[in-house]
Amino acid sequence: MQLPMPQVITQLNDWKSIRQNLTGKSIGFVPTMGALHEGHVALFERSIAGNDLTVGSIFVNPAQFNNPDDLKNYPQPFEKDLEIMNRLKIDYLLFPSYDQIYADGYVYKITESEFSQELCGKYRPGHFDGVLTVVMKLFNLVRPSRAYFGEKDYQQLKLIKGMAEAFFMELEIVSVPTIRENDGLALSSRNQRLSGEDRAKAPVFYQLLSSGLSTENIKTELARNGFQVDYVEQYGNRILGAVFLGKVRLIDNVEI
Ligand code: PAF
Repeated sequence: MQLPMPQVITQLNDWKSIRQNLTGKSIGFVPTMGALHEGHVALFERSIAGNDLTVGSIFVNPAQFNNPDDLKNYPQPFEKDLEIMNRLKIDYLLFPSYDQIYADGYVYKITESEFSQELCGKYRPGHFDGVLTVVMKLFNLVRPSRAYFGEKDYQQLKLIKGMAEAFFMELEIVSVPTIRENDGLALSSRNQRLSGEDRAKAPVFYQLLSSGLSTENIKTELARNGFQVDYVEQYGNRILGAVFLGKVRLIDNVEI
């Protein structure tokens, strides 16, 4: 009889025993906060194609939420997530509790002191400390050969790559292009919280980022279309932005 996949692991001690027996296999890792969509599926598919085994994690990480309402309203459709992982035949799912991950009470942190203060970091104090800390913890637990991150969270991707290099971590960080709806809206777990009216408006964000207008003009046009703008800035060969539609914060970036 075939066992249901993935094997769901809630106790880190159980995972540590399992991990000991996986020596010699290449392990692809996809860390998530659940509410899986086609963007996550693309990460899992890359991992499955490139490794002997794929491990996913679902952990809604309070340390990276600077806004308590955003944390409270973060969608957590666990059964649906499990169905997706089952369909993809993910080998293992880590689904630990807060106490398991933060047994130290989050007194130990990873901080990047430059780029993490720019762009989203200016508007979400402490956000990237939370991201880098949890990712470091998960990397140490999973010890993957490769870990997969989407380009939609471009600043996060750059910071995680930088952390892996700075700490001589023996894994490859693989970046995967953003998956979009047909109308251009980047897939995000937060999209499902948009009202009907805001969902109809949301693709204008991507359209303006890729319009070739200056960052100042993009901001003006976004505001005129009812977006509340955190920032639109050029970074290297990309334009990155973050906006609010109602209470929902959207981020996106395009190559120029
Ligand atoms: O991108 C995310 O979903 C999260 O920031 C991550 C990388 C899983 C860390 O909690």
